[in-house]
Amino acid sequence: MSLLESAKKAAAFRAVDECVKDNDVVGVGSGSTVVYAVERLAERVQKEKLRLVCIPTSFQARQLIVDNDLSLGDLSRYPQLDVAIDGADELDSNFVAIKGGGGCLTQEKIVASCAKHFVIIADHTKDSQVLGEQYKKGIPIEVIPFAYVPVINKIKARYGGEIQLRMAKMKAGPVVTDNGNFIIDWHFPADKFDWKDVNTNINLIPGVVDTGLFVGMAHRAFFGYADGSVKEKI
Ligand code: A5P
Repeated sequence: MSLLESAKKAAAFRAVDECVKDNDVVGVGSGSTVVYAVERLAERVQKEKLRLVCIPTSFQARQLIVDNDLSLGDLSRYPQLDVAIDGADELDSNFVAIKGGGGCLTQEKIVASCAKHFVIIADHTKDSQVLGEQYKKGIPIEVIPFAYVPVINKIKARYGGEIQLRMAKMKAGPVVTDNGNFIIDWHFPADKFDWKDVNTNINLIPGVVDTGLFVGMAHRAFFGYADGSVKEKI
């Protein structure tokens, strides 16, 4: 296992051990770090006979839950979660996160918003003081395909920066989200932004589904290191 994978695994295992208890309804995030969280959930269900219901944030998360023989739920039956555990692309000193590197930001945000505790797990390279310090791929924004050009123009006119439509790697054309939408990635300028305002204003643009800015949502964050140690960000 690479050093970065060991770091992700350490963070995921610690979060599952500290934040999940018997009878919990657990939100399962998306991305590569969450794979280890699901592995640990499955181990604990086996060994400790925990009764958990897992709510997925994407097609990938759903598959992970099913493949690991965990109990699958949805928001119609379980609209209130005890905890949601998810990765992040970056987390700043105010606990503002960028998410959506994997394109699943909208369902991730909905599930996180329904959880009493939203816990971020990541390797140490995602830990930053200021957004953009570590993550160089911009802020993902999910848009209705019909509206992506006007949305891009409106964000650029208001805030500046560069915005690209995210293109697929194994297919000709754009990435299509689990909701049938496009993702645009906003490379914001190095200004001092009020991210709560930015998130609100971008969400008000017709055609925007949601942004990958998670403001005021994360309650706890665990960052793993290659030696297996984990630092909880305070
Ligand atoms: C998925 O859309 C994302 O929000 C991921 O949670 C985020 O990109 C972190 O992914 P990794 O765990 O793969 O770094």
